[in-house]
Amino acid sequence: MKRVEGKAGIITGSGQGIGRATALMLAREGAKVVVAEIKEENGQETVKLIKAEGGEAIFVHVDVTKEDAVKNMVKVAVNTYGKLDFLDNNAGHEQPAMPVIEVTEEIWDNLLALNLKAHWLCIKHVIPEMLKGGGGSIVNIASGGGIVAMPTVAPYCAAKAGVINLTKNVALEYVTKGIRVNAVAPGFVDTPMADRFSGGDEKVKEQMSQTINPIGRLGKPEEIAAMVLFLVSDESSFCTGACFCVDGGMTCD
Ligand SMILES: NC(=O)c1ccc[n+]([C@@H]2O[C@H](COP(=O)([O-])OP(=O)(O)OC[C@H]3O[C@@H](n4cnc5c(N)ncnc54)[C@H](O)[C@@H]3O)[C@@H](O)[C@H]2O)c1
Repeated sequence: MKRVEGKAGIITGSGQGIGRATALMLAREGAKVVVAEIKEENGQETVKLIKAEGGEAIFVHVDVTKEDAVKNMVKVAVNTYGKLDFLDNNAGHEQPAMPVIEVTEEIWDNLLALNLKAHWLCIKHVIPEMLKGGGGSIVNIASGGGIVAMPTVAPYCAAKAGVINLTKNVALEYVTKGIRVNAVAPGFVDTPMADRFSGGDEKVKEQMSQTINPIGRLGKPEEIAAMVLFLVSDESSFCTGACFCVDGGMTCD
């Protein structure tokens, strides 16, 4: 028996990076995956990769910061698979590093819209569908930056800290209704986001990984995906309201 056999759900931002690795891993373990992504070509490619391995997936174009688009994403998911067992709130974006007094209102609003508001929007529209099916599992991708301070990226860190608290609140609101809600806080992981954050310089990326992750290397997207798989599966049936750090020791201090 595969670990999430027959479960259907949405993974936002699954056109690349951690989201794509998660979509592939869950599909290999028997899940039907809605690849929800703003970049159509990348999302379609993830679906192609899943189908090439014999898995089940569909692509839905979505901007998760827009409520109408999120509503449509949920509608398409339910119309296709008849239910929703899981939501992986994964879409996110870093910010340019800068002192907090240089952050503009536009940067703040955009950061918070994608890295916090969007998690709430997806939760808001997925929960009623999960309740119809008797429950489900929601995973919110946060960050080690939501736990410890990372000077020069305050808005991103504030949004991710918000995700961790949103997780706890929603978890307790639905704890008796069969819905489990957990957060995952990755350290510095080797994805296109890490490439952008290090200015596309492999040497800088390597140095940053040694500074940020005490384990001394970049995380692999699959190492984050493995935690999401556990949280979506019934193996984590007693876990809710928790934040699981997958960060090579980043948040120890
Ligand atoms: N890579 C890291 O070091 C790291 C560390 C901690 C946390 N995270 C978090 O992990 C998650 C995935 O990060 P990643 O490194 O794979 O990033 P990534 O930039 O490689 O991938 C993010 C995906 O989200 C999609 N996306 C962006 N805006 C969207 C929108 N409005 N609607 C729908 N999709 C949208 C992008 O197109 C992209 O496919 C993010 O929430 C990120 O904050 C990453």
